[in-house]
Amino acid sequence: MTIAIGGAAILLFGTEGLVDLRDEEQGLKVVASRETQLLARSLQRAFRDALRDQQIEHVAATLAALAAVEPTVAIFVYDEERKVVATSKGAQPSRATERLAERGSTSPTAIVEFDPEEAPTRLRLAIRLREETVGHSSAIVLERPLNELHRDLAASRRYIVTTTAIFVLAVAGLTWFLTQRSVGRPLEALVAQMHKLSGASSSPPPGNLDEVAETRAEFDRLVVALSAARTRMAEEIEARRGLERGLERADKLITLGQLSAVMAHEIGSPLQILEGRARSLHKSAADPDATRRVADMLVEQTERITRIVGQMLSITRRRAPVRTPLDAEAVVKRVLSLLELEAERRGVRLVLESSGAGTVSADSDQLQQVVLTLVRNALEASPRDTKVTVTLTGTPQQLKLTVADQGPGVPTEARDQLFEPFFTTKPDGSGLGLSVVRSLVREHQGEVALVEVPSGCTIAVTLPRAAEAGAA
Ligand SMILES: Nc1ncnc2c1ncn2[C@@H]1O[C@H](COP(=O)(O)OP(=O)(O)O)[C@@H](O)[C@H]1O
Ligand SMILES: [Mg+2]
Repeated sequence: MTIAIGGAAILLFGTEGLVDLRDEEQGLKVVASRETQLLARSLQRAFRDALRDQQIEHVAATLAALAAVEPTVAIFVYDEERKVVATSKGAQPSRATERLAERGSTSPTAIVEFDPEEAPTRLRLAIRLREETVGHSSAIVLERPLNELHRDLAASRRYIVTTTAIFVLAVAGLTWFLTQRSVGRPLEALVAQMHKLSGASSSPPPGNLDEVAETRAEFDRLVVALSAARTRMAEEIEARRGLERGLERADKLITLGQLSAVMAHEIGSPLQILEGRARSLHKSAADPDATRRVADMLVEQTERITRIVGQMLSITRRRAPVRTPLDAEAVVKRVLSLLELEAERRGVRLVLESSGAGTVSADSDQLQQVVLTLVRNALEASPRDTKVTVTLTGTPQQLKLTVADQGPGVPTEARDQLFEPFFTTKPDGSGLGLSVVRSLVREHQGEVALVEVPSGCTIAVTLPRAAEAGAA
């Protein structure tokens, strides 16, 4: 910036100086020609009569006297025949002098000539001695070297160059000082800051002439460092994902271990009951009523075992979801029709509210299982003459499914464990339904959560419409 402004100042003051110089030259020329003219006019008067009276000695005397006062001015006196009749001491008329005398002898006014025209070294002036004469008249030519003019011009050139240089230096200095204060130092601070940010260990290179270029370079370094950091972060995230996947597998194994432990208990006790009842069948074989009661009990206990085994299978046999585009509303309707009889038996109304359901890319069986588990839980919690509402809403990116009932809701202390395997408050519950729901939803990159509502229980599931790129 300093260099740019300095350059502009040189251009500005330099041009101004040149113009000044020209004006100065012009002014000096005017002064020189006026002075010479004054001298010529006084000589004109003195020589006119002397020439008419043929008093050449008088003319020579005047020239000699003048030489003492104006030694640099050469004077040539011409008669009507354009012949030199007198000159100042030692002066020789040149071709240019002759030519000017010729022109001057007929011109009504004085003729001034600079030789050469540009940067002249000599001034010539011709003037006729008799103004009233028609045709050629006697004339005088004055020749004056312009040494003083040159001396003066050189002096003023020196002056202009010096002042220009001083001005340029002052402007450049001031600019340097101001830019250093308002741009340079903040930029330097910025560079240092960026250097720190990019995590470089060495200090930034010392102050450069071009702060902006330096800032750019530092910025580039920062960008490189940032993109390296981003790559590192992406790698770390990927590593953590791998770890999470490993943990999930481990989680499943732990779940299986726990399952085998509960299996002994969960299936063991109904089996004991079954065994006892089956034995008692022998004794009550004669009593049809007692037989029917025992048979009912057998059916009930077998159903319980079937359900527990079924839920356990859904965990142990779990496979990666096979995603296909599904009509979300159709899936929910199918599940609701499966549960219609049970709802009727409980005196509970099943309601479907759907807006913006659309399609979702999901595993058909698994999505059905999710809806089935949630609606069955809702039915189990519903008193008579209430309703269970399934709503389907969504955005272009997400499908949201909620199942709401008007039952007692989930007590605060149970909220944290709701989705844990084996958490149940039911005497014959397995506590596996919601935990299976959670893992299925997560495998679809979705979320399931209990919604805070004033009464009853509402559980919401959100699923991405399309499978995430790169998701297993
Ligand atoms: N709609 C609901 N209203 C109130 N509590 C519920 C509801 N759904 C689930 N719960 C609670 O969550 C527990 C776990 O449910 P779940 O995992 O399906 O196992 P289970 O139904 O076998 O108990 C239930 O025992 C119950 O306490
Ligand atoms: Mg359940």
